[in-house]
Amino acid sequence: MKAILYKTYGPPEVLQPAEIDPPVLKDHDLLVQVRATSVNYGDLIARRFGQVSPREFNMPAALWFLARLSFGWSRPRQPVLGSQFAGEVAAVGPSVTRYKVGDAVYGYTGAAMRAYAEYLAVSETSEIARKPANLSFEEAAIVPYGAITAYNLLKNADLQPGRKILIVGASGSIGSAAVQLAKMHGLEVTGVCSTPRRAYVQSLGADHVIDYTREEVRQSGQTYDIVLDVLGRLPLADYEELLNPNGVFLAASFKLPHLLKAFTSRSAKQGHALKIVMAPEKTNDLDAIRALVEAGQFKSVLDKTFPLAEAAAAHRYAESDARAGGIALTV
Ligand SMILES: NC(=O)c1ccc[n+]([C@@H]2O[C@H](COP(=O)([O-])OP(=O)(O)OC[C@H]3O[C@@H](n4cnc5c(N)ncnc54)[C@H](OP(=O)(O)O)[C@@H]3O)[C@@H](O)[C@H]2O)c1
Repeated sequence: MKAILYKTYGPPEVLQPAEIDPPVLKDHDLLVQVRATSVNYGDLIARRFGQVSPREFNMPAALWFLARLSFGWSRPRQPVLGSQFAGEVAAVGPSVTRYKVGDAVYGYTGAAMRAYAEYLAVSETSEIARKPANLSFEEAAIVPYGAITAYNLLKNADLQPGRKILIVGASGSIGSAAVQLAKMHGLEVTGVCSTPRRAYVQSLGADHVIDYTREEVRQSGQTYDIVLDVLGRLPLADYEELLNPNGVFLAASFKLPHLLKAFTSRSAKQGHALKIVMAPEKTNDLDAIRALVEAGQFKSVLDKTFPLAEAAAAHRYAESDARAGGIALTV
């Protein structure tokens, strides 16, 4: 089958079309004919992991070390990127009960990747669900990662209508989903992003946008009931100043100081809490996300589509200032 491989870490050009053997199905696996996949943060980091320093990695150095070992120290162990997919079930293992050949599905393979290929084997109990009927394969393939992660992060806050939320990293996969989910619950949303993506964040429904390249977040003097920091770039010194009494700070990425703050914030005077939240690897949330998409409450914003064979060009585009929204690869 056709796939895109990378055999060394490096720039987009390391992604090369190749022929590889199709996957072998286990008893509970579905063989998905991939119709579309995507480019997101995980693909970009995994492609150049050899050049990603512990400082650049948005997690403590010990986790960088473990991730580097797991991805491959000097070259990638697993040469096929792609963590999101939408496609059709082409075959099922003998023990599969939930899906049949022909079903349209979408899903997320996480760090296991493997979706930059014509076929993908995934367990029927993994993060997979029937595709939203009102989305194309390309639109469906850019939804799962950001939506699942934002959905699980926001479960850790009280989403009452009228409460104020600050989303730092509102133009990325997780943040753009968080903006939509927070608006759906009636929150007043302030999104933080850079200049080229201000209009995009506004188009998602954000009430206010702060451009982090032009002003520091705390300069606005505003305070919030919930702060969600996607990349962990907000200075930790600002955290108590930004929160209302009993406010909660959700850290999707963290370094050692966040861990210490999470520990000490439990005894903070005004009841502020810093929570480090990891979305569970295995969830059934894609069914819930499909319901929101089909009800028109959650939209897939597709910026640009490339053929799979042009994965390198798609990665180059994803790393440019021009991007605003999801980037899909048509297989
Ligand atoms: N907790 C979990 O369960 C979980 C799960 C998966 C991933 N993660 C973590 O989530 C992060 C990736 O998130 P993503 O996929 O949404 O990334 P993404 O699509 O690359 O988006 C990154 C966002 O951060 C913004 N940003 C960049 N530099 C910034 C700065 N200095 N100050 C403020 N905002 C800044 C970007 O804005 P512009 O593009 O406009 O510059 C963009 O909105 C990684 O650190 C990953 O480890 C956490």
